[in-house]
Amino acid sequence: MAQQVRGVVARAKGEPVRIETVVVPDPGPGEAVVKVQACGVCHTDLHYREGGINDEFPFLLGHEAAGVVESVGEGVTEVEPGDYVILNWRAVCGQCRACKRGRPQYCFATHNAKQKMTLTDGTELAPALGIGAFAEKTLVAAGQCTKVDPAASPAAAGLLGCGVMAGLGAAINTGGVGRGDSVAVIGCGGVGNAAVVGARLAGAAKIIAVDIDDRKLETARGLGATDTVNSRSSDPIEAIRELTGGFGADVVIEAVGRPETYEQAFYARDLAGTVVLVGVPTPEMRIDLPLLDVFGRGGALKSSWYGDCLPSRDFPMLIDLYRQGRLDLDAFVTETIALDEVEKAFERMHHGDVLRSVVVF
Ligand SMILES: NC(=O)c1ccc[n+]([C@@H]2O[C@H](COP(=O)([O-])OP(=O)(O)OC[C@H]3O[C@@H](n4cnc5c(N)ncnc54)[C@H](O)[C@@H]3O)[C@@H](O)[C@H]2O)c1
Ligand SMILES: [Zn+2]
Ligand SMILES: [Zn+2]
Repeated sequence: MAQQVRGVVARAKGEPVRIETVVVPDPGPGEAVVKVQACGVCHTDLHYREGGINDEFPFLLGHEAAGVVESVGEGVTEVEPGDYVILNWRAVCGQCRACKRGRPQYCFATHNAKQKMTLTDGTELAPALGIGAFAEKTLVAAGQCTKVDPAASPAAAGLLGCGVMAGLGAAINTGGVGRGDSVAVIGCGGVGNAAVVGARLAGAAKIIAVDIDDRKLETARGLGATDTVNSRSSDPIEAIRELTGGFGADVVIEAVGRPETYEQAFYARDLAGTVVLVGVPTPEMRIDLPLLDVFGRGGALKSSWYGDCLPSRDFPMLIDLYRQGRLDLDAFVTETIALDEVEKAFERMHHGDVLRSVVVF
């Protein structure tokens, strides 16, 4: 029997989100219904509401979540009712060319639920990143559920489901930060500060945090940044070069998603260094660089989707580090809020007041 729950829906571009009744079907083959316990507010949810991702309104927002599996459909073996899980947007298929080449983190046929959640009038909802977890319950593909240690609090664990994983992985997986490296992170919101933490975990010797907001820089310092640069008051390229003996950083992570900050990242790295773009640009953005500089500076220009993570490999490991006190996920939870406060949380995010607001059920 389909169930009715409350969920946060974006009906049209730029319109405030509203709580609506969402119809959640029983799980079909390969699917699971998850009782959501916590879901973080990510900048990507706001991108959806602003029409910056696609036009498939109405959206059921929310995608950084942890919860408990309530029921599973036919043929599901990876999880069972009662399992504590983090939801992921990379349920790998095992069949596509990337998967078959042993690179499942680049899978291009990832699984979502086949059935649709709807409004009560039957209108189909597009769940954000195939998850839709600003809802008391959500329907996902079973592979989107990654079982982790239930001792981790849902508010902290859920953050690994998107932004914090994206930042950690941008440093560890995509950027390949190693012991002794110098790293700069441009934009220190939830994602960028997670990249700071990732660089520290990977053994970076110097970690330079760059932002236009001093509050974010202060948090970055608390999380392991060795130096901070306010790029409103000083030129970040020069500052990063100065802090690295005139060379530039080995790895520069761009966690804003704008042409000007990408250009800063490009020129703030050392010769043969790596740039990682983890911030998400919008369709109209363009970048203009001298091709000779792209050639002459060598190195690698990479983009990082979801921190190139493999949820089954990375989530349980990171939860273990969290449980051992080596990864401070709690530091990312600025506030916990109720389901009907998501719109207010967008505003606070927009003003830079929070790293993460997390809806707790
Ligand atoms: N690649 C992925 O898989 C992935 C996953 C999640 C989020 N994201 C993207 O990462 C980006 C950051 O997300 P977030 O949740 O941390 O957002 P956020 O709003 O919390 O953080 C953005 C930060 O950038 C800073 N900033 C803005 N303009 C700047 C500038 N010109 N120079 C320096 N700093 C500047 C802000 O002060 C803020 O601290 C977004 O674009 C989001 O969509 C990407
Ligand atoms: Zn695949
Ligand atoms: Zn996200």
